[in-house]
Amino acid sequence: MPPPIRTVADARARARRVLPRVLFDYVDGGADGEVTLAANERAFRDVALRPRMGVDVDVDLGTTVLGRRLDLPVLLAPCGMVQLVHPDGAVGAARAAAGAGTLAVLSKIALCSPEEVAAAVPGPHWFQINSAGGRDEVKRLLARVRDAGFDGLVVTLDGPPPGNHERDLRHGVVPPVRPTPRLVARLAAQAAAAPRWTAAMALAARRQRATVQGATRVLGNGRAPRSARFTWADIAWIRREWAGSLLVKGVLTGADARAAVEAGADAVIVSNHGGRALDGAPATLTALPEVADAVGDAAEVLLDGGVRRASCVVKALSLGARAVLIGRPFVYGLAAGGEPGVAQVLEVFRAELVRTMRLVGRATPADLDPGLLQAMRPWDVPGLPSAKELL
Ligand SMILES: Cc1cc2nc3c(=O)[nH]c(=O)nc-3n(C[C@H](O)[C@H](O)[C@H](O)COP(=O)(O)O)c2cc1C
Repeated sequence: MPPPIRTVADARARARRVLPRVLFDYVDGGADGEVTLAANERAFRDVALRPRMGVDVDVDLGTTVLGRRLDLPVLLAPCGMVQLVHPDGAVGAARAAAGAGTLAVLSKIALCSPEEVAAAVPGPHWFQINSAGGRDEVKRLLARVRDAGFDGLVVTLDGPPPGNHERDLRHGVVPPVRPTPRLVARLAAQAAAAPRWTAAMALAARRQRATVQGATRVLGNGRAPRSARFTWADIAWIRREWAGSLLVKGVLTGADARAAVEAGADAVIVSNHGGRALDGAPATLTALPEVADAVGDAAEVLLDGGVRRASCVVKALSLGARAVLIGRPFVYGLAAGGEPGVAQVLEVFRAELVRTMRLVGRATPADLDPGLLQAMRPWDVPGLPSAKELL
């Protein structure tokens, strides 16, 4: 029995030990020079918390997101291919999220069908799509996920094209991926060097095959007639087709946030795809104030990217996010320990959040505001405005 995961960094270190290198790099890596990937985390470190003394609060982390009551303002972001990381896959992640009183967004390319998640985990659930396949496929998919009991739809805007993942290229994984003898030999050597992962996958091979085949059957092969980017007209069209909650993911400016609201989004997710799409895009925490200001009360605002500790959650909520999503942290947990690994990562966030909220003297997410924040090193750059002024 491995020791419990105590931090996201723990989970990452274990994922690195367990996974074949190509899979770890797929999860861990970002686009191009990974500038935005690093900036996401750094932006949180550059902001300090101004604790309130002389108060002792009973912390209640409960909140609502689009009318849905959550015990924890931390959701699991849609992540593709998670079925390859551990046989518990998307079902395990959804179960862990439900156990923590929150929810997981199922990626269209998680390699697990919405029906399988819905059958295994009490809903309602949220699903994420991109533009692949065009309107006909999107329409078919919306009907399918609605019938499966999904009531929230996350529409990702920041691709295609996918980001340029240089780590994948270095492993010889060059899109469109073809199983050439050279690539197969390379990946087989990596699998041999990851015996725990290989054994778990071999044990679950039959179930895994059924899950992946089921997902591929349900979701199509993603081969689009033309894999175009969604436009605001597409979002307005989806709004007409989809009666449930509609979230638009990948917004980084006030202008785009307003466009999303005009197109009918109920919420925007401030996201740069975890630094996996456009390298050089701003850190999400720095984009958040402009977006929150632009939408006001017209929509809810969520954020993802670089959230590694509860203090990051507190900072994002203080700047106007209703909740955050975590991508890599939960995938590391899944790789490290399957469903219980994801549950442990969520528990790390819950316990750290309770402690941090007590330390800053704020009882609930609703008590968090920008007054809680300042620049970590306002004296570093004389003459420049402090982070507090910028926020
Ligand atoms: C392995 C992996 C796969 C991902 N696949 C998708 C996807 O299929 N759809 C999507 O909208 N975002 C996808 N993302 C981006 C996440 O939804 C999220 O925006 C990002 O991971 C947040 O940053 P973080 O990893 O620093 O928490 C993926 C991220 C990772 C790490």
